[in-house]
Amino acid sequence: MQKQTVKSGIIGAGFSAGFHYESILGVSGTLPEVVGVYTASGDDAREYAEARGIRAFETREKLFEAVDLVHVCAPAAFHEEITVAALEAGKNVICEKPMTGYCGDGSDDFNGETLSKELALEKALESIQRMLDAEKKSDGRIFYAENWVYAPSIQKEREVIEKTGAQILWMHGEEAHSGSHAYTYGFWKYSAGGVMIGKGCHPLGAALYLKRVEGMARDGKPIRPKSVTARTHALTRMPTFRDEGHIRSNYHDIDDFSIMHVEFEDGCIATIIASDIILGGIHNWLEVAANNHRTLCNINPNTAMQTYNPVDENFKDIYVVEKTGTKQGWSFPSPDEDWFTGYPQEMEAFYRASVTGEPVESDSNLAANIISTIYSAYVSAERKGAAVDVTTF
Ligand SMILES: NC(=O)c1ccc[n+]([C@@H]2O[C@H](COP(=O)([O-])OP(=O)(O)OC[C@H]3O[C@@H](n4cnc5c(N)ncnc54)[C@H](O)[C@@H]3O)[C@@H](O)[C@H]2O)c1
Repeated sequence: MQKQTVKSGIIGAGFSAGFHYESILGVSGTLPEVVGVYTASGDDAREYAEARGIRAFETREKLFEAVDLVHVCAPAAFHEEITVAALEAGKNVICEKPMTGYCGDGSDDFNGETLSKELALEKALESIQRMLDAEKKSDGRIFYAENWVYAPSIQKEREVIEKTGAQILWMHGEEAHSGSHAYTYGFWKYSAGGVMIGKGCHPLGAALYLKRVEGMARDGKPIRPKSVTARTHALTRMPTFRDEGHIRSNYHDIDDFSIMHVEFEDGCIATIIASDIILGGIHNWLEVAANNHRTLCNINPNTAMQTYNPVDENFKDIYVVEKTGTKQGWSFPSPDEDWFTGYPQEMEAFYRASVTGEPVESDSNLAANIISTIYSAYVSAERKGAAVDVTTF
């Protein structure tokens, strides 16, 4: 059968736009054609376009007219607006994480730390609903770019759960970095929150996904989150923090450490840690304690490769693993970091679904429940860890 061409366009030209493009190049089930890119400022779009031999569009609307599929790789503050506009133009949308949230009222004195988290939850739920409504009215769909769902270890665990009828009793997982590369990440008004949403969305997304898989496999209905307890901290902004220069510490009004404890409808639980204070390379893992097995999904680092290098300089041209501080001594080079992370697999699935109309594992419903859980967790953190009920979709 002849492969169908999928014309796509990318909104954003930064870090995520970079790995989206790389992953599109590997799509094999359809014929992807990246037509062009658009950013609000334009300068970075031109540079991005030139480096890849694609077009830099002057307006978002012109990009929409030229494509079937839109990648949203702009900061979280703009996800709703861009996604809804693309859906209104009848396009499918690959929306980066977090799908949406609340980024304030635009006032100069807005501060994420003092923001009422109850108000933030209310506004975030309204934003989710607007996106779901726009999707319902559109010929297009939202594909939610939660790469953890497509990470090979999480997909293998899906198979184990489906084929053994496992009951997941407890999941615990973490996404940890030594800080984000993006300047805007430090501001709630751009990122819709701190590390609890920015990084916590990944392991939480995988946990909510696997519980959904379990419910569907056994009883034909998803098991959804019921309540959440959380704490957040801003460790690098404490007056007592002793900065040695290894950890990013110029955040404006966001949390850099968080812990969420989620209770599901069936009484089972997930504990999710996210932080920006961990040295030694990005640390992404999820452990599943089930009634009939136990699995540890090591996304990053993993022991696919272990290397000893006596001299840092020798590895100057060698990429080892994201955010490692040094390449000297023992390290865990990822032979294909993107593959372990699920980036190529999510693109393959989204491009295929944009042609076939088939369901995707990471959809707007999963994204909605992730955002709702995290904003309920922010309310809990404001109440110093009191349990808060989660509104589900
Ligand atoms: N899934 C992952 O592993 C992963 C990793 C990094 C970032 N992300 C997500 O990707 C999104 C972008 O993050 P990033 O790291 O690429 O940021 P970045 O700062 O590197 O790039 C953001 C890009 O968006 C453009 N932009 C800003 N405002 C815009 C607007 N209103 N309209 C159009 N373009 C606009 C900027 O010019 C820039 O090119 C965030 O939501 C982030 O959470 C996901």
